[in-house]
Amino acid sequence: MALDRFREWRIDRMTDRIARRPHGKSARTTYGAADVHSFTWEPVLEALALGPADRLLDVGCGGGVFLRHAQAQTGCTVAGVDHSREMVRLARPFAVQGEAEQLPFKDGEFTAVSSIVAFFFFPDALRALREMRRVLAPNGRIAIYTTSPEAKGTMAAPYPLATRGHFYTDEELQHLALEAGFSTARVTRPDESGWAQLLAAQP
Ligand SMILES: C[S@@+](CC[C@H](N)C(=O)[O-])C[C@H]1O[C@@H](n2cnc3c(N)ncnc32)[C@H](O)[C@@H]1O
Repeated sequence: MALDRFREWRIDRMTDRIARRPHGKSARTTYGAADVHSFTWEPVLEALALGPADRLLDVGCGGGVFLRHAQAQTGCTVAGVDHSREMVRLARPFAVQGEAEQLPFKDGEFTAVSSIVAFFFFPDALRALREMRRVLAPNGRIAIYTTSPEAKGTMAAPYPLATRGHFYTDEELQHLALEAGFSTARVTRPDESGWAQLLAAQP
């Protein structure tokens, strides 16, 4: 029993350090790299169709690399939120520390919200989606790039890390978004592996 608890504790610790609340030198190198998760950028930017008048929030922004890219590509204004203090420091000056389920922003502050390879870790997906909806202006849109249940055990979600993830079918993701108050929601599979999901929704 004590051995089981120790094993679970070690998995939690490893998951946090690597991805769920990244910290330490190796995490800073990974999430500060100029191309981290760059395979997600094109589908996310296509779904958001950003321009210079847009205000983008990235939830679980890590080192802020996507925010810098989005700003350079589209001229939009950017902000990020992440619960890892070290990631917020890396994503300076754009990011603030906070939880996806309780965003430290006012109602309607953004025209677009993204979340890249992070939604999977949010303990309460519905609450996180409600928060994204709340901070969006009426003409807003969200794009969430996440990992499908079929990815469990693949390199996209290897064990034991996969045991700490929350996976949703396409239908579940769509329903969650509608329940959170979005009026349209669509889930697509943005890459050839079929392991990734892109949820695009509008108020
Ligand atoms: C795998 S990293 C991805 C980081 C970044 N989006 C990227 O693509 O490089 C997941 C990020 O989500 C953050 N995160 C996880 N759960 C969170 C939560 N509930 N609230 C805020 N941030 C969270 C982690 O701290 C981490 O920086």
